[in-house]
Amino acid sequence: MTTDEITDLLTEAYLDELETVMNYLTNAIVLDGIHAEEVKESLEADVQEELEHARMLGERLKQLDEAPPGSEAFEANQSSLQPPEDTTDVRSVIDGVLEAEDDAIETYRSLAAAADDANDPVTEDVAVSILADEEAHHTEFRGFRKEFPMD
Ligand SMILES: [Fe+2]
Ligand SMILES: [Fe+2]
Repeated sequence: MTTDEITDLLTEAYLDELETVMNYLTNAIVLDGIHAEEVKESLEADVQEELEHARMLGERLKQLDEAPPGSEAFEANQSSLQPPEDTTDVRSVIDGVLEAEDDAIETYRSLAAAADDANDPVTEDVAVSILADEEAHHTEFRGFRKEFPMD
């Protein structure tokens, strides 16, 4: 049985994934310098994964006889992932990614819990699959973060 809470979380997560696609793509393009290359490659790969997450969420909404939103429903939230003025400031992008991945992990935990409560194992499976990817992204950027200690 689906609930409003589940369709709201699916919709919110869909929009968050698309904002993440935009910011990871932009940062993968703009960063400069010798410390940037691995981070740029990782962001580029994650763009594809985050887009696939949006697709999975949109398909699940469709199966629930709902629809994913268009851009007019979109409200930007990721202020910490805006491209840095200093394009060699890789650390600010790493910190922004860690924040975005933390938010995503929280969203998918909530979605998995709501789906479990509502006895909706298919949505729960979608949430858990995506959650595993977000935890892997977080771990990778936590590793990058270790190369950029506090000043
Ligand atoms: Fe994602
Ligand atoms: Fe992610």
